[in-house]
Amino acid sequence: MKVTVVGAGAVGASCAEYIAIKNFASEVIILDIKEGFAEGKAMDLMQTASLNGFDTKITGSTNDYSKTADSDICVITSGIPRKPGMTREELIGINAGIVKMVSTSLIEHSPNTIIIVVSNPMDTMTYLVHKATGLPKNRIIGMGGALDSARFKYRLAEALGAPISDVDGMVIGGHSDKGMVPLTRLATRNSVPVSEFISEERLEQVLQDTKVGGATLTGLLGTSAWYAPGAAVSSMVQAIACDTKKIFPCSTLLEGEYGLHDLCIGVPVILGKNGIESIVEINLSTSEKAHMQESAIGVSATNKLLTL
Ligand code: 2OP
Repeated sequence: MKVTVVGAGAVGASCAEYIAIKNFASEVIILDIKEGFAEGKAMDLMQTASLNGFDTKITGSTNDYSKTADSDICVITSGIPRKPGMTREELIGINAGIVKMVSTSLIEHSPNTIIIVVSNPMDTMTYLVHKATGLPKNRIIGMGGALDSARFKYRLAEALGAPISDVDGMVIGGHSDKGMVPLTRLATRNSVPVSEFISEERLEQVLQDTKVGGATLTGLLGTSAWYAPGAAVSSMVQAIACDTKKIFPCSTLLEGEYGLHDLCIGVPVILGKNGIESIVEINLSTSEKAHMQESAIGVSATNKLLTL
């Protein structure tokens, strides 16, 4: 199993590290445009192999896509991260050109690969990869919901005073401060609806804290987060590589599902060896449907800024 991670920045390097530690991939290529940067990250990570107990071979490359040839899965993290006070959508001007170049370069050497998009604004970048590569829609996946759901569970556990292992919840919709749809109605503490434990007001606070989870960290760190994004995308890579058929909320091209067309937005999907094995259409409440519609309007508006 060969995985390429484009972008040796904090998110890309964290993703590569988690993939290696989980030890399901034979090879990870890290590629970056900055001279020697990916090679340095790869060497540093390889020097943890004896300590962290993995056999994955991590190699770095300075912008030589031939080294990525025949990758089973490619993760695109390249582009600039947001600064405090910025929205993800403000990154489109710079990141669209980078993601278009990277995705076309990847499929030149790995025509059968599955692409996972992390770069922001992620839903629009995922849509851009469809337009730029023409890959089948099951092989283009956006990572946002897995991260947002992890932050949702963190906030739920905090509110419940419960171990995170007892908490389950999912965030669908756009990966944006305003567009996320945390499914509080379906969240559980060990199969018991969380509404049995916390008030509507407290649950609303959890929902709001989840929606700005990324911005909160950017304010604290001065740049975008990297540990949870890296862990989220590495979990998706593992589900595909190991054909686990786990359900993740992922950004995918909708062609009528959830009443939405011609955009990529976060919905529950089953991940396996074919990438998106299927889209899971759950029965949403009236207000959840309304929030998804609003979220889709926001994503489509950002898509219109693309000069394809
Ligand atoms: C985040 O929410 C980088 O969009 C990513 O942290």
